Amino acid sequence: MSILVTGGAGYIGSHTAVALIESGHDVVVIDNYSNSSPDVIARVEALTGATIPAYTADIADRQTVTRILKDHDCDTVMHFAGLKAVGDSVAQPLDYYRENVAGALSLFEAMQAAQVRRCVFSSSATVYGAPQFLPFTEDHPLAPASPYGWSKLMIEQILRDLAISDPDWRIAVLRYFNPCGAHPSGQIGENPIGRPNNLMPFIAQVAVGRRPHLDVMGDDYDTSDGTGVRDYIHVVDLARGHVAALDLIERETGWNAVNLGTGAGYSVMDMLRAFEKAVGHPIAHKIGPRRPGDVAAYWADTQTAEARLGWRAELGVERMCEDHWRWQQSLIASQAEPSHPVGGGL
Ligand code: NAD
Ligand code: WQD
Repeated sequence: MSILVTGGAGYIGSHTAVALIESGHDVVVIDNYSNSSPDVIARVEALTGATIPAYTADIADRQTVTRILKDHDCDTVMHFAGLKAVGDSVAQPLDYYRENVAGALSLFEAMQAAQVRRCVFSSSATVYGAPQFLPFTEDHPLAPASPYGWSKLMIEQILRDLAISDPDWRIAVLRYFNPCGAHPSGQIGENPIGRPNNLMPFIAQVAVGRRPHLDVMGDDYDTSDGTGVRDYIHVVDLARGHVAALDLIERETGWNAVNLGTGAGYSVMDMLRAFEKAVGHPIAHKIGPRRPGDVAAYWADTQTAEARLGWRAELGVERMCEDHWRWQQSLIASQAEPSHPVGGGL
């Protein structure tokens, strides 16, 4: 039996492919490479020693996905593929609903056609919206603040209804908090196309000299130092959480939502200082206005993950910054070699 990883060349999918293979699973990847490069698959193969059947395909291509599921005798889909920029989703909502929601519908139809009823889905803490209480438990009210967040919640709902319609479905909806860091080898990591939206890749690009300074977006929040607080989670821990989710859906049928975070909040200035320590020199920053739509602080309640997955995050902020920095440096080195293809998710 194999696991089909959609978006397996992307940031989180590639790290999860490594973790799955290291845990003895066979992995098949489909990716349309809209935000990544086939070179990532070669790197995952080199890291693991495995040969990965990888298809250039869109999740919306139902016939192709059905055929791949059948040809590889897949029993599970880990669904990472999709668009993820919150700001873009506000500007182009139809793209987000088509790519994420319609894409997922087509994928789930392919799964039904191939009689594959195990699914692990990449959801996001963004489904909670503004905190009514903290930490966010899985039963916190759901009120996304962007089309991206709504697309995640709509897919969660589709999966919930599928589980009601047919008790054979086994579904884990994983709500990620703020993934960062990279594989300790420095071979795979996040490489956003254009100006990074997220804090950690932005800090890394300033540290390496690609950008002049970090704009700290607001220092007048009701937090310890006035800057925004988030629950940053190392992507390697996140990847392990997916392996643990396989055991959950092996044990139980139905729909399960689980937060994947560390349970601890760090401010923008905390992360900047931690990155400076990893790099060994100061990183330029300027205090700017708040980013519209941002909330002051949120972090995960991790009790469900501990109880249901037997999983907890192990890697702290120091490792997140060290590994992110190692990756950022190797990326610069590889970009200096013109023959080396570099894509968005490499
Ligand atoms: P990513 O962009 O690096 O990876 C997504 C991959 O899917 C890319 O390789 C891309 O080429 C591929 N893809 C996109 N649309 C596709 C389609 N229609 N068909 C086939 N392949 C397609 O993003 P990521 O950070 O690895 O995120 C993975 C998932 O996790 C996404 O669903 C994202 O919404 C979710 N998520 C990410 C974060 C985060 O901060 N990175 C947080 C919460 C949830
Ligand atoms: C973190 C903190 C910013 C950039 C987003 C999505 C969420 C999830 C993870 C996908 C905030 C501050 C940021 C910068 C800054 N993704 N910041 N300067 O907004 O918590 O979450 O990514 O599902 O859905 O919304 O993450 O990294 O953008 O911001 O000061 O240049 O860093 O204000 O306090 P966010 P982020």
